[in-house]
Amino acid sequence: MSIILIGGEKGGTGKTTLAVNLAALRARKGRDVLVIDTDIQASASYWAQMRDEAKVKPRVACIQKFGKGLSTEVRDLAHRYQDVIIDAGGRDSVELRSALVAAERVYIPIQPSQFDIWTLGRMDDLVKTAQGFNPDLRAWVVISRASTNPSVAEVAEARALLGDFEHLHLASAVIRDRIAYRKAARDGLSVEEQKPTDPKALDEMQALFQEVFHDE
Ligand SMILES: Nc1ncnc2c1ncn2[C@@H]1O[C@H](COP(=O)(O)OP(=O)(O)OP(=O)(O)O)[C@@H](O)[C@H]1O
Ligand SMILES: [Mg+2]
Repeated sequence: MSIILIGGEKGGTGKTTLAVNLAALRARKGRDVLVIDTDIQASASYWAQMRDEAKVKPRVACIQKFGKGLSTEVRDLAHRYQDVIIDAGGRDSVELRSALVAAERVYIPIQPSQFDIWTLGRMDDLVKTAQGFNPDLRAWVVISRASTNPSVAEVAEARALLGDFEHLHLASAVIRDRIAYRKAARDGLSVEEQKPTDPKALDEMQALFQEVFHDE
């Protein structure tokens, strides 16, 4: 059983994209997965709905939950599914704080720009506070939507800056900005299911998947 949170205070960093791809890859391994969409924008729910309408198998269950009762709700649901993946909206919300108390691991996607990295100070604090209630919580930053241009040094720069945050680790996998993510999401698919496959998107998503779930 695992409870994974994809969260962060910054909007548009790829949280929902990571949440739904990880969920689909997990379901494709035969796991019974639940996505909990805590964002009123409901992008994860739309993705699951598209998937259902297109009759894509395996099905990925998705429910919406709001409010501060979320942590109790998540713990209860975690008994009924093998994996729970929570997609939290891009702001400091009761849902984000509440989910941090229930999760085992949180992954915080950020785009490798200075402005995004600055928002991590607050995430570092939120994680520290949550660890007071949830001592086993571990937090990783995932560099997301990075440039595919090899001459851009932003990933290396972001790595260097991340050393400053006491409660945040850095994931090895880097997710780059690729059309394949947008196209797959639109059709309720993961980059593993999309045809034609983008091998680079697939590689990096599988690398992240491996890091998140190991061989559990
Ligand atoms: N790696 C990527 N490559 C290309 N496009 C991406 C990537 N990740 C996300 N996107 C696109 O960027 C937009 C925002 O992504 P997404 O909805 O996953 O972000 P989010 O962090 O969940 O946003 P919000 O804070 O609004 O919930 C979407 O149009 C999505 O398709
Ligand atoms: Mg989102």
